[in-house]
Amino acid sequence: MANKIIVAIDGFSSCGKSTIAKQLAVRLGYNYIDSGAMYRAITLYFLRNGVNYNDHDQVVAALADIHISFVFNEQAKASDIYLNDEDVSLPIRDMLVADKVSQVAAIKEVRTFAVAQQQRLGNKKGIVMDGRDIGSVVFPDAELKIFMIADPAVRVMRRFKEMYATNPHITIDEVRHNLELRDYIDSTREESPLKQAEDAILLDNSSMSREEQLEKVIGWVKERSMANAQI
Ligand code: DC
Repeated sequence: MANKIIVAIDGFSSCGKSTIAKQLAVRLGYNYIDSGAMYRAITLYFLRNGVNYNDHDQVVAALADIHISFVFNEQAKASDIYLNDEDVSLPIRDMLVADKVSQVAAIKEVRTFAVAQQQRLGNKKGIVMDGRDIGSVVFPDAELKIFMIADPAVRVMRRFKEMYATNPHITIDEVRHNLELRDYIDSTREESPLKQAEDAILLDNSSMSREEQLEKVIGWVKERSMANAQI
C-alpha cells in the first residue's frame, strides 16, 4: 500500500480506539498519535502548576510554557508522550488527570493549541490518529474515518482492567462514574463536541475479537488507499 492516507478514529472513551489504532499503525508502518494523550498532558501540567482553568489569562500563559512531543518507543511499538522533555506516558493515566481532562479539553484555547499541533503531525499523511474530533475537525478530509462504539458495560470493564494494573485500589463504580461524566462533557461541550462525522464508518466492536476488528479495518484502508491512488 504505497499510497499513504490519514486514518481518523473517533469515539467515546474506552471503546478500544487506541488498541486498533496502534495495531493498524504497526501493520501499515504508519505513525500513531493518541490525541487524548495531549489533552491529558496539558491537564497534568495545569494540575501540577495550580493553573486555574476558569481563568483565561492563566490558561493562555500556561499554554505558552507547554511543549508536547511524541517519541517512538521501539519496545512498546508506540510513541511515548513528552511534556517539556519529561516522559509523562504513565502519570497522564492517573485518575486525578482522568477526573479533570474533559473540563480542560472543553476550553477553546486548549483545543486551538492541540489541534494546530495535531494537524502539523498529519501533514505528511501515513498517520493514524484517535480522539473525539479527528474526523470532524482535525482532519475533515481524512481518507478513512471510523467512529467506534461499544456496549457501556464492556467499556467500563475494559477501562477498569487497564486502570487496575497500575492502581489496585480503583473500583468499578469509580470507573463507571468517570466514563459517564466524560461521555456527557465530551458530547455536550460547545467546542467541537464528540459526534460522528457524516462520512465516518460506524464500528461497533462490543463482540468482536481484536483480530476480526483489525482485518475489517485493514480492508477499509486498502480500499481507501486504492481509491486515493486513482485520483
Ligand atoms: O482518549 P482519552 O480518554 O485519553 O481522552 C481524554 C480526554 O480528552 C477525553 O475525555 C476528551 C478529550 N479529548 C478531546 O476532547 N478531543 C480529542 N481529540 C481527544 C480527547
